[in-house]
Amino acid sequence: LVWDDNQGRPPWYNLHGELKEPFVIGLCGGSASGKTTVANKIIEQLGVPWVCMLSLDSFYKVLNAEQHEAAKRNEYNFDHPDSFDHDLAATILKKLKEGKSVQIPIYDFKSHSRLEQKKNLYGANVIIFEGIMAFAYKDLRDLMDMKVFVDADPDVRLSRRLKRDITERERDLVGVLQQYNTYVKPAFDQYIAPTMIYADIVVPRGGENNVAIDLIVRHVRTQLEQRGFNFREKLRYAHQGQPLP
Ligand code: C5P
Repeated sequence: LVWDDNQGRPPWYNLHGELKEPFVIGLCGGSASGKTTVANKIIEQLGVPWVCMLSLDSFYKVLNAEQHEAAKRNEYNFDHPDSFDHDLAATILKKLKEGKSVQIPIYDFKSHSRLEQKKNLYGANVIIFEGIMAFAYKDLRDLMDMKVFVDADPDVRLSRRLKRDITERERDLVGVLQQYNTYVKPAFDQYIAPTMIYADIVVPRGGENNVAIDLIVRHVRTQLEQRGFNFREKLRYAHQGQPLP
């Protein structure tokens, strides 16, 4: 296989040797609203190689000893705009848009801390940036080409969160409910729901909403074509499962 549309250049350069800027989708919504499901469906249906998902969770600030103890007692507020290092997130997103290689911190919800290793990322065609506070900061919003807010019934979010935190994040029922009532629910009303006004599209019922996901995918494809991505070529690679040069 050759890059006949690109004269042998890697897929993220156009025929003039200029970088094709990756398309950034911002995905915001309350905790356990279905952001990851929506993101995975977009990735699957886009059929484009090199789509990467970047999570605001990776940029939770590192806690000191006292904050760490509070977190263990479910008494640390992880649902506040100040809990995230959004400057670092914006720097990394900007570098990715410029085609540069980046090192992304890996966050561990069980220990409330960053792991020692980092994830290396570069050369994405589409970047999905997701998080509860994804639209809370202007510097991050300005880097997004399309903003999608995932909406879900509050009861559905709470029940999903209970299940997930107990099975995947080593939490107990009483602690999850305490944290939810003290921090998570008020934060949704105060900081997350108001950012819906920045959204280009609001997706009710999260990952179940196939019509909304189809509309998003169509828009992203059109935008990528306008940036010089040749679709048939990319799809051919994607379907044949060939590693890219
Ligand atoms: O995956 P999701 O968007 O739900 O992740 C965000 C949630 O993770 C926040 O609502 C926050 O309460 C929770 N969190 C936590 N413990 C941490 C970091 C975040 O429970 N150490």
